[in-house]
Amino acid sequence: MDEQKPKSQRRVRYAGTHPKLFKEKYKELHPAQYADDIAKVILQGRTPAGMHRSICVNEIMEFLKIVPGQIGLDATLGFGGHSLEMLKCLAPGGLLYATDVDPFELPRTRERLASFGFGPDVLVIKKMNFSEIDQIAAEAGLLNFVLADLGVSSMQIDNPERGFSFKVEGPLDLRLNPKSGKSAAALLKTISQHKLEELFKTNADEPYSEIISKAINI
Ligand SMILES: C[S@@+](CC[C@H](N)C(=O)[O-])C[C@H]1O[C@@H](n2cnc3c(N)ncnc32)[C@H](O)[C@@H]1O
Repeated sequence: MDEQKPKSQRRVRYAGTHPKLFKEKYKELHPAQYADDIAKVILQGRTPAGMHRSICVNEIMEFLKIVPGQIGLDATLGFGGHSLEMLKCLAPGGLLYATDVDPFELPRTRERLASFGFGPDVLVIKKMNFSEIDQIAAEAGLLNFVLADLGVSSMQIDNPERGFSFKVEGPLDLRLNPKSGKSAAALLKTISQHKLEELFKTNADEPYSEIISKAINI
């Protein structure tokens, strides 16, 4: 009988007085449960683990001048900070499309925005590359505004398992969507120095692409 009892979920033990590793930061990873602690972290000017603090929110909202009833696109949904403010301005009658390629964070953001009352009736989230914006335009018609907050989200960098961190050990992956394409580690096994140099140049305008690609032992 005992074997069938669900095991009690104990939080990860950590050494010392404060959790240091991403997976140990149980308070920051459960912001709804520990709202006061999260507020303290933000007041200290830090970004809680697993969260993203949106940039230039006031400036962006001032620039976009969104009014109720408009249709817009947040091309880089991320944690949904910009989308949340846009949705507040769009009601009533507006509609926001949002895209992101991250299959892990996207459902969390969908849930978070739904908890603020913004469900599929006002927010259409698509897991897709914003390079396919023509598909959105075909579906939505004329868009009143588009925001593209290019880059990565803090959640992606924070979690070493996502393969972006250089502060702590983790796999070398570097994919926003790990379900598509090759990890950086796999790529390095087959790519030539010359091709790597080209990648740095084309994808990142890296002025030291030759030096860096030669320094990486491939
Ligand atoms: C800087 S964050 C956006 C943060 C967001 N504005 C917020 O308030 O939380 C950039 C996001 O763009 C996404 N992204 C990067 N390249 C993309 C692409 N080509 N298509 C769609 N999303 C992309 C990343 O996965 C990341 O979540």
